[in-house]
Amino acid sequence: MSQSYILILIVIPFSFFQLTTGKECVCDLKNVDPLFPKDELRNVETTALKCIRSITLEKMTDLDRLVLGLQQRIKQLEDNVVKLEKENGNLYAAVSLRIIELEFAEIQNLLNKLNRTTNDYHHLNAQAATQLEDMKYTMVDLEKFDKMQVIKKNREKESKKLEQCKDELKASSPPPTVSPGRCGLGQMVSVAGPRTSSLTAYSTSYSYGAWGRDVKPARGDENKYWLVVLSNSNVYGHFVRQYGTLSTLLLGIGPKDTYISGSNPTTNTIQGSNMVVYANALYYNCYNTYSVCQFNMTTRAVSTVALPSDTGYNNKFPFAHLGTTYSYTDMDFTTDESGVYVIYATTSNFGNVIITKVETSNPPVLGQTWTTSLHKKTATNTFMVCGVLYATRYLDKETEQIFYSYDTETKKERYDLKINIKKMKTNIEYLNYDPRDRLLYIYSDAYILTYELVFQ
Ligand SMILES: *[C@@H]1O[C@H](CO)[C@@H](O)[C@H](O)[C@H]1NC(C)=O
Ligand SMILES: *[C@@H]1O[C@H](CO)[C@@H](O)[C@H](O)[C@H]1NC(C)=O
Repeated sequence: MSQSYILILIVIPFSFFQLTTGKECVCDLKNVDPLFPKDELRNVETTALKCIRSITLEKMTDLDRLVLGLQQRIKQLEDNVVKLEKENGNLYAAVSLRIIELEFAEIQNLLNKLNRTTNDYHHLNAQAATQLEDMKYTMVDLEKFDKMQVIKKNREKESKKLEQCKDELKASSPPPTVSPGRCGLGQMVSVAGPRTSSLTAYSTSYSYGAWGRDVKPARGDENKYWLVVLSNSNVYGHFVRQYGTLSTLLLGIGPKDTYISGSNPTTNTIQGSNMVVYANALYYNCYNTYSVCQFNMTTRAVSTVALPSDTGYNNKFPFAHLGTTYSYTDMDFTTDESGVYVIYATTSNFGNVIITKVETSNPPVLGQTWTTSLHKKTATNTFMVCGVLYATRYLDKETEQIFYSYDTETKKERYDLKINIKKMKTNIEYLNYDPRDRLLYIYSDAYILTYELVFQ
């Protein structure tokens, strides 16, 4: 509905009368049609604009997040109640009861929010429907003035464009599909969430850290969560904090700290945020070397294995985006259904990403290796699902995008993925996939979040 229509429309319906008086020729123009109702058109334009403003994507996402948050909370509550039942009477039960109370309050809070949001929607929907209906009638009226069929032709053009667009969409191939034989997952279509988001007990003190669950827990440890903050210079850490449940982690109740060393940093302490826990051992980049460290959280013993000597470390090949590098993220440990991998870059591969399987024996051993053409500094993080590596990049403060994939089975690379992650905070310092719950665990400027990977 641009102004140009008006311009075109008002020149349309005239009838011509030609009079001849002597040698002069005079033309008299008479408009036989009613005047063009440009006020009505303007009204429709204003209403349409208002309508668009009130139904924003933002609101839809809010609703999505509330529902997902609620799901997660209720599940957590169930788990906690089961736990409480088992603990009848002891001291810990009192703590659990308090957690459940808080959990209830949180759920009630979410329910209220949800109710408010859905009420808003009902209101919005009813109003929008009436407005749309009104606009439709006005537009039908206005179209009668379209004698030169400008709008009609435009519409035909638009629909042709739409068809073309659809065809183009079909032509650009969909994201990788993992064959059922490998993991039973379909094509990754989107990332929903955040499902949970919270500050840790450290509040905003540390912007670099990592968290998650043991990907291969011992029996009884299935619900435990671990958290590591890089407490020195946003680069170095020297202990792992563990919590019994997600609620205790969020509330900061009853942490158990396991120290790698009394000082930080020193030989074999943690460098960089992209670590993982697998079978009660922490895998990470050892301080000031190009080695992989395995910290046994039972025995507190550290075993190491060296990557190629031209592997980037000490901030040589970190993750980055224009203007920002994520300090000391030279090595990224990831987990998928088949175990642990380390993602790094070497000089001989021109700073491009290399994937190496880490066999989790004691000491750890380097397994199969794949070289890619993905320049490490163009990615902000990576994760693996079913043997496929995915890389993210920074789009803007609100959005991170999964743009790249490498399938270790077919060795096929793709740079045309466009799966967005809606962020709460600007930077993602840690990102890993947990094959147990198929969630992405993220540490983002002191916030800990989970997102759900949606497969078709
Ligand atoms: C939802 O909101 C409506 C209107 O404000 C209220 O009448 C209703 O009791 C609320 N429902 C819940 C479950 O809170
Ligand atoms: C850690 O130590 C325990 C106890 O000795 C042992 O059973 C386990 O296999 C070790 N884990 C790793 C990954 O070496």
